[in-house]
Amino acid sequence: MKILVVDNAQAGGQKAFQMIEEAMEHGAKVLGLATGSTPIALYQAMTESAVNFSEMTSVNLDEYVGLSGEDSQSYRHFMEEQLFSKKPFKETFVPNGKAENIKAECTRYDEVIAAHPVDVQILGIGRNGHIGFNEPDTSFASKTHQVQLTDSTIEANTRFFEKEEDVPTQAISMGIASIMAGKEIILMAYGKDKAEAIRATVQGPVTEDVPASVLQNHPHVTVILDADAASLLTQK
Ligand code: GLP
Repeated sequence: MKILVVDNAQAGGQKAFQMIEEAMEHGAKVLGLATGSTPIALYQAMTESAVNFSEMTSVNLDEYVGLSGEDSQSYRHFMEEQLFSKKPFKETFVPNGKAENIKAECTRYDEVIAAHPVDVQILGIGRNGHIGFNEPDTSFASKTHQVQLTDSTIEANTRFFEKEEDVPTQAISMGIASIMAGKEIILMAYGKDKAEAIRATVQGPVTEDVPASVLQNHPHVTVILDADAASLLTQK
């Protein structure tokens, strides 16, 4: 794993954007994209740039079960607002949280991923080390699946909703095996809240208790941190 400590989220977003540009120069066609506050600076850098994404495809990590793409809290809506409405892509994929048959939707999404192998996967991280919505104890062999969110994730997400009871308790998430299939992975984390998850991810044992620790087994991972998120790492 390559660790980069940057001044702040803006600098981290710029760095991640440069890495995406380089990958595109080397033929990358598919971006694996993430939601949450962490990648916002990256999406800003992308939208403010002159780079053309109209030949690019994106495959997002996850979506809440029960929210349609028009719902302002859905991840589809977030992506439209932050990126796709400003920078058109060739094709964009986000799981359908309103699918009648969630199991069938998971299978469909695995087919999407297989047809569009991810060149650069962008990741944030949850405070408990989750990636996408793969909560602790998710199998490293998992593909797209329905997830029961943990209390800590639901609580962390309440800030985006008016009332706690509005926060969805289930999601559809790309699995850990699908995330690991990305050719290159960029994980970003900022702030003290993420410091322990980052320590466990980078310097702890590789264990399903900390989903992101699986990234130690991937050959091409860059972790972009601010000083707070890096504050519990010991020099090796
Ligand atoms: C959610 C998303 C993750 C994201 C995490 C952290 O759980 N499913 O993809 O990494 O939130 O969000 P934030 O970047 O806002 O801290």
